[in-house]
Amino acid sequence: MVEETQLLAANLVYPLFIVEGTGIRQEIDSMPGVFRLSADQAVAEVGMARSLGIRAVLLFGIPNRKDPEGSSSWAEDGAVQVAVRMLLEKHPDIYVITDVCLCEYTDHGHCGLVEDGTIANDPTLDLLARQALSHARAGAHMVAPSDMMDGRVGRIRDALDADGFSDVSIMSYAVKYASAFYGPFREAARSAPVFGDRRGYQMNPANSREALREVRLDVAEGADVVMVKPAMPCLDIITRVRDEVDVPVAAYQVSGEFAMIRAAGKNGWLNEDAVVLESLLAARRAGASLVMTYFAPLAARLLET
Ligand code: PBG
Repeated sequence: MVEETQLLAANLVYPLFIVEGTGIRQEIDSMPGVFRLSADQAVAEVGMARSLGIRAVLLFGIPNRKDPEGSSSWAEDGAVQVAVRMLLEKHPDIYVITDVCLCEYTDHGHCGLVEDGTIANDPTLDLLARQALSHARAGAHMVAPSDMMDGRVGRIRDALDADGFSDVSIMSYAVKYASAFYGPFREAARSAPVFGDRRGYQMNPANSREALREVRLDVAEGADVVMVKPAMPCLDIITRVRDEVDVPVAAYQVSGEFAMIRAAGKNGWLNEDAVVLESLLAARRAGASLVMTYFAPLAARLLET
């Protein structure tokens, strides 16, 4: 009766890995129970999630063809574009968020264009805007840029507005640390950088004032929701961001957090169900309105009972 924080299925966003083709449901080694899905299989998965009270999904595309510019990311028949159209046709009441980034689509695995061995921030912005626009044209309600290039929120906002998509929202990965917890995701999306690392564009885990600066910039550029990522190592950051701005704050319980909890649960070292609910509640208590989690269906089922 006097609990200060509540966790509801409606607070959860379910991330899905989408591949091209049909009939594909391929388990990810480092994320047991999580699958790469073709669009038709995603329809079934979302039907299951929807029946548990989950209202939103976040789609990541894994293309068959990767190139230096990540051009599959804005293809009209790309994995995400096809899935968005199919999902909305079968589940018109689901809220569809799409990841906007290049790393899943580039052959070098970096989130931006590579010029002379370094990441070219400004030339990348047009490609991100192009990708976001193609997601909006497919019907996405919200785009979520995770690339961490400077200035991309404003550029995407301008591109969407100019094309009549002023009602498509932007959730920026405003505070995304250069974290080792993304390891399993990179296996899932086959997106590990082939050289170097992401420390040039993702944030140093030693910094928290910098996080507030990143958030203020993204809000000024038009972000509707700001995300902090990863979640459990950054609960202090979630709270500081919550105090800093008025827009909703999101937290991403990332692949490494998922893998740790699942592995310990499978071994009988932790009570997985209890840890899942506690970890998600902690993100909510810290100040997150919504939480992206691969545990969304499990958590929703647990919350029902
Ligand atoms: C793409 C992206 C990543 C994640 C979300 N978007 C990987 C990365 O930055 O290497 C990680 C999500 C997860 O670990 O679950 N830039």
